[in-house]
Amino acid sequence: MGFSLGTAITYCTVLIVFASTGHVAGCYKAIVSFGDSVTDTGNLIHNSKLLSNGFVKSSVPPYGETFFRYPTGRYSDGRLIIDFIAQSMGLPFVQPYFGGGSNGDRSFVEGVNFAVAGATAMDISFFMERGIINSATNVSLGNELDWFKQMLSSFCQTPSRCKEYLQSSVVLMGEIGGNDYNYAFLQGHPKEEVLSFVPKVITVIASTINELIKYGVQTLIVPGNLPIGCSASYLSYFMTSNASEYDPRTGCINWLNDFAENHNELLQEELDRLRELHPHATIIYADYYNAAMRLYRSPSNYGFNNTLEACCGGGGPYNSNAHVYCGSQLSTVCDSPSSYINWDGSHLTEAAYRWIADGLLKGPFTSPQINGACILSRPKPKILDS
Ligand SMILES: *[C@@H]1O[C@H](CO)[C@@H](O)[C@H](O)[C@H]1NC(C)=O
Ligand SMILES: *[C@@H]1O[C@H](CO)[C@@H](O)[C@H](O)[C@H]1NC(C)=O
Ligand SMILES: *[C@@H]1O[C@H](CO)[C@@H](O)[C@H](O)[C@H]1NC(C)=O
Repeated sequence: MGFSLGTAITYCTVLIVFASTGHVAGCYKAIVSFGDSVTDTGNLIHNSKLLSNGFVKSSVPPYGETFFRYPTGRYSDGRLIIDFIAQSMGLPFVQPYFGGGSNGDRSFVEGVNFAVAGATAMDISFFMERGIINSATNVSLGNELDWFKQMLSSFCQTPSRCKEYLQSSVVLMGEIGGNDYNYAFLQGHPKEEVLSFVPKVITVIASTINELIKYGVQTLIVPGNLPIGCSASYLSYFMTSNASEYDPRTGCINWLNDFAENHNELLQEELDRLRELHPHATIIYADYYNAAMRLYRSPSNYGFNNTLEACCGGGGPYNSNAHVYCGSQLSTVCDSPSSYINWDGSHLTEAAYRWIADGLLKGPFTSPQINGACILSRPKPKILDS
């Protein structure tokens, strides 16, 4: 292998060119995000106008007990996937749009989060027509997109400056759509009906992506649905004595996981179409489903000894009770959240979110992979001593 001096110089030049295009400071200057409680870093807690029933469940302890040490409005004991992504890209935690940061709009320089806990992809009227209640909020992805447009008009003002901001940002599109199914399923609507929502949900996600690209966005990460058949709230609601409904290896309910996988397959087909439509955009699919499934399949590899039971909840076989929610007086909380995957029945612990983020950032759960050059430090999951 004889490297000539000339070759070596050429190699160095290539590296220097790379370094000078901004890769060193992390590839992305900002994260712009949309979604629901999987991604909300404080919108619902900061804006009571978004609330339907006047109370944010994540506004009381033990929410936040592991990391922030106080409730931030995040639906977990600590950080969310988006927080680990931000940290790995050398960026601060993504500011909620309604967070009222001390810098006002200036705090959006490094990111802004429009995700609202309880939000759906479809508009509220869609659910009202079908007798489905969203007791958390009326916010839909369409509302979040409207705020995005409002924010641009005050934050960057001219189309060219906005384009510049968006071109150097990465958009995290969700997860969104999970609640559209959650509300319907957990209010007793039949699978056939809920299945008919899937193409509609995906159409809304796709048209939002189209609009964002029109505004100048170049890089998007689009997550799929999580394995709802492993979620304590679903396991409690659909509990059955028919053993063949459960995956013997994980204890998750097969047909619900099949439902999530169906959504994810249709979403990926749509993303393929969008990639053809926008060859200059980078549209990354984030496989939350399989990044989470590996935790249920091999929990001990990740420091978990309790896969299906919620750490915080109101009792029952999965410690998930629709009437006694985490943080309320009669609920109990486990001693070591990091040994649990499920936090409060429908959301995951910081430990689980950290592993999911790790699987996205290190691979193999993003496609195409997030540019490794943009990952400054990878979140190092910590397994507590036993
Ligand atoms: C939610 O939407 C319904 C129906 O349009 C409306 O009656 C209600 O006031 C809305 N709630 C909030 C908090 O906006
Ligand atoms: C049990 O579940 C399996 C799988 O969903 C189904 O095929 C079967 O009909 C069920 N048996 C009863 C008795 O409901
Ligand atoms: C699970 O792990 C935690 C933390 O390591 C430990 O405190 C707890 O005793 C374990 N529980 C079981 C049932 O092994």
